[in-house]
Amino acid sequence: MRRIRIFDTTLRDGEQAPGCSLYPHEKVQIAEQLAKLGVDVIEPGFPASSPGDFAAVQTISRTVSGVEICGFARTLKGDIDAAIRATQDAERRRLHLFVSSSQIHLDFQLRKTQDEVVRMAREMVAYAKQFVDQIEFSPMDATRTGEEFLFKIVEAVIEEGATIINLPDTVGYALPEEFGRLFRTVRESVRGGDRVEYSAHCHNDLGLAVANSLAAIQNGATQVELTINGVGERTGNCSLEELVMAIETRKDALGFETGIQLDQIYDTSRLVSRGMNFPIAHNKPIVGRNAFQHESGIHQDGLLKNRNTYEIMDPEQLGIPRSMIVLGKHSGRHALKHRVMQYGLTLSDRQMDDLFGEFKILADGQKFVSDEEIMGLVSNQARSP
Ligand code: KIV
Ligand code: ZN
Repeated sequence: MRRIRIFDTTLRDGEQAPGCSLYPHEKVQIAEQLAKLGVDVIEPGFPASSPGDFAAVQTISRTVSGVEICGFARTLKGDIDAAIRATQDAERRRLHLFVSSSQIHLDFQLRKTQDEVVRMAREMVAYAKQFVDQIEFSPMDATRTGEEFLFKIVEAVIEEGATIINLPDTVGYALPEEFGRLFRTVRESVRGGDRVEYSAHCHNDLGLAVANSLAAIQNGATQVELTINGVGERTGNCSLEELVMAIETRKDALGFETGIQLDQIYDTSRLVSRGMNFPIAHNKPIVGRNAFQHESGIHQDGLLKNRNTYEIMDPEQLGIPRSMIVLGKHSGRHALKHRVMQYGLTLSDRQMDDLFGEFKILADGQKFVSDEEIMGLVSNQARSP
């Protein structure tokens, strides 16, 4: 099994989701939980962006142990100095430098030529290397960058001492096959490309972030950059729980593993959702309300006989309380009886028939029937002669 390193950027890229800003103390609390979850690297913020972010990165570097801390910076001395100072006391640290590389970004955002950008990247990697050994470099918008220029800038920063090359799909534009190919070609074609580690950073604009990250791993990436609940700009980043569970559930087919403590996934998801005030869609894979709930009678019947009939993961392994079955108008008698028995009640066949009849009438008029309502029907049964 090849061990994939999990780089969590919930507190940096994830926090860029509209309305999701966190106070420094909330960042510290989430970082502690991320360490418990077993991520390999935490990117806690952008130290040069505000005094609050600087303080959060500094406190996390001082107090959260057992995980590498990453300082984030543009290719500017001021940013690098701030990131270096903020992460000074971390047990282990790295610096993450980025600069745009696509022509559209160079023309309209940076207003610099390709040569100027390569020079800037070279100088700033060399500058940062005086302070930190591990330097990660990201050519932003890599998937819309011409191959020739992408190779050139990657080669230049490797020459100056970058140790990790991250290829971001900044606007979620790539398709899995081409993203995988990009990793293979960069690895094989760039001078020094076999000396560094590769990382994938995917956004989800086309709903392909997980597929693209897997394609990158299959083509040599050993690190993936993820956020809890997939939070991030626009449609977000690659979701940590989805990618990790894809690797875990299909590990025999894929041949990869991570160091994530699966039973911490649900608590981490809830903590981030509450902290960022960011609700989780009901149908979100892994952590959504409906992810392990089954309404149709046929599915419920199958589950009660053997969970593997309709579940490919065990929610309890993820720390998700098993409240498994939502009862509604499609539910069968068997499932209703099971729920009643979960509450320690035994009904005669006749009582069960009556209850099922009343349940169907109630269920027809609403989306689902809660346990309280079922218990209400059961007490009516008990009162009836
Ligand atoms: O999406 C992106 O390009 C980024 C980089 C700066 C890594 O977040
Ligand atoms: Zn990003």
